[in-house]
Amino acid sequence: MSDVLAIYPGSFDPITNGHFDLIERSSRIFDRLIVALLTNAEKEPLFSVEERLAMLREVTRNLKNVTVDTFSGLLVDYAVQKKARAIVRGIRAFSDYEYELQMALMNRKLEPRLETIFLMPAESYAYVSSRLVKEIFRHGGSVKELVPAVVEERLRQKINPKPHEV
Ligand code: PNS
Repeated sequence: MSDVLAIYPGSFDPITNGHFDLIERSSRIFDRLIVALLTNAEKEPLFSVEERLAMLREVTRNLKNVTVDTFSGLLVDYAVQKKARAIVRGIRAFSDYEYELQMALMNRKLEPRLETIFLMPAESYAYVSSRLVKEIFRHGGSVKELVPAVVEERLRQKINPKPHEV
């Protein structure tokens, strides 16, 4: 097949260096990649859809075969509509595996033509998550090596970090 499209779905609240690492890796494997932001997640996000989209677009702007989009409803329905062949998900630690396996097998049950591809981020990002980034920032810790500069700036605008407690 000539043009293989993959979808990298997520909440990206906000995008971290770990996410970006996976986007870069995927962009080297697949002909095209859509980073797809879920807009109707149950959890209350820190950043609005527009803010998360803007950060994703800024961070991926130099990757020519990567586009950013939103989706709601079932991921498999969106992937079929886009004619994607694969879903990309990251596995950082063993603890991610159970949830990711369940989701991958359920997605396969719903749409057997789609494959889920698991990628591992660089070791240096194995412990990075959006949730921890927000928590660290709120308590005055440095997130410089964990998120792109544009995200750090947005966090600064959104959250008033507490001074470092000693
Ligand atoms: O970044 P996240 O929050 O780990 O991403 C989770 C996401 C968006 C991939 C997942 O919640 C999802 O695909 N939601 C869409 C609804 C859906 O298809 N649910 C069934 C999954 S088996």
